[in-house]
Amino acid sequence: MNWRDAVIYQVYLRSFHDADGDGVGDLDGFRAKLDYLVELGVDGIWLNPCYPSPGADHGYDVADYTDVDARYGGLPAFDRLLAAAHERGLAVLMDLVPNHCSAEHAWFKEALAGRGRDRFIFREGRGEEPPNNWRSIFGGPAWTRVDDEWYLHSFDSSQPDFNWRNPAVGAYFDDVLRFWFERGVDGFRIDVAHMLFKHADLPDWPHYPEDNPYAANQPEVHEVIRRWRKIADSYGRTLVGEIWVPTVSDLSLYLRPDELPGAFYFDLLVCPWDAGRFRASIDRGLTEIGTAITWTLANHDVHRTVSRFGLISREGGPDTRPRGVVDVALGVRRARAALLLLLALPGSVYLYQGEEAGLPEVLDLPDAARQDPTWLRSGTADYGRDGCRVPLPWTASGPSFGFSTSSATWLPQPSWFADFAIEDQMARDGSTWRLHRDALRLRSRIDGELEWLETGRADVLAFRRGDTVCVTVFGQEPFPSSEYGTPLLASADAPKGVVAGGSSAWLRSA
Ligand code: NOJ
Repeated sequence: MNWRDAVIYQVYLRSFHDADGDGVGDLDGFRAKLDYLVELGVDGIWLNPCYPSPGADHGYDVADYTDVDARYGGLPAFDRLLAAAHERGLAVLMDLVPNHCSAEHAWFKEALAGRGRDRFIFREGRGEEPPNNWRSIFGGPAWTRVDDEWYLHSFDSSQPDFNWRNPAVGAYFDDVLRFWFERGVDGFRIDVAHMLFKHADLPDWPHYPEDNPYAANQPEVHEVIRRWRKIADSYGRTLVGEIWVPTVSDLSLYLRPDELPGAFYFDLLVCPWDAGRFRASIDRGLTEIGTAITWTLANHDVHRTVSRFGLISREGGPDTRPRGVVDVALGVRRARAALLLLLALPGSVYLYQGEEAGLPEVLDLPDAARQDPTWLRSGTADYGRDGCRVPLPWTASGPSFGFSTSSATWLPQPSWFADFAIEDQMARDGSTWRLHRDALRLRSRIDGELEWLETGRADVLAFRRGDTVCVTVFGQEPFPSSEYGTPLLASADAPKGVVAGGSSAWLRSA
């Protein structure tokens, strides 16, 4: 596998496909859809955590790092999945969650019983107050009291942070990596890889809501990453970091030659639909990150691309989950344009499940159905991430639109999901699904360094790679493109010789 330009499809397992009819996706359900991924044309998959977990953060609260949750089919189902994926030439990346575990993990249970607390971050409080003023990323305090001490949790209170200053923690995770590499896993996405170490003094952070620099991105983390790189290299496997740091220069430090082979480039993910901002972000990425660049516009933590790019009036919320009024048709049009732009860039690309169907975010989930801990921990100010995790619509009818034999899915599907049914789109010329498939087939022919072309318009980006030119029109006005060559693929219909407003096209010079 050439990881540098691979296209990886992200499978949020519990929402992908359910084989056993309990309304929650599982590994056998996923396996039954592997040929679908081959037809789509991706090179591999990243599987969100499927370890045994009480599910407070749907798998990001791991109770046992070397097993698979029985509700997903256990280790036997995992082995079947891995073998079937490899038979089809698909790589499988798992998700490593090293910053924190579940309160149900054996070590934390011991810690609660008073043994081995130095594997976690336990401190005495300040009187009746927590040891410092840190906030959890999900909202509320980052400390919970047990007996006469408090433990740190950067996320939910059921996700205690490990103490990475204790070498036993590092040794444990080295073994976890080896365990899965020995089993044949092709790599790992590393959850919040920048957060493992906290400032040794745990000082107060006086500037909330600005990000707390003491709670992440400490220099010590790089040593761990170097060690993991050596382990991964010794098996010929890969690693991709989930790293939210203030600047692209900070990110580049994690991608030094002996550190991670890849890390998501979130700088572009948070870009508004604006040609200048896109170009600046792409340039920054290619200059500062270079060939390790890993593009993505969506994942299980952010609003779907259609809804971010279709936002016509903003009413607060973070950049990754803006709230407001969405024009879905506009969002679909722009998301299609963004896809061609992304797939024409040098580097690797991650696609989140459902994006190939142009699914919008489900913004109107009933409050009682919401499960993301951010919903309650933020005092319901942040709707959280449930809206991009609703089980996929495979068919336009049937119980749960072909997701399960049951209609009782773990999150309710809206009736309008029928309009986005994947199987319908597979059969329909011009569908968003077909655009993905066609682009993925043609993409391997795009090669060479990126060279920007002057378009004479501030709302139009064009670049050449080898004999292919990608044009993206951010504004409404069509753009004459015949000087760049003949069309290979376009995200929207247009008269001959032009690229339509709000669309992208790939052209090939004679
Ligand atoms: C990032 C993951 O992508 C997110 O889903 C999770 O809640 C947090 N890390 C905590 O593990």
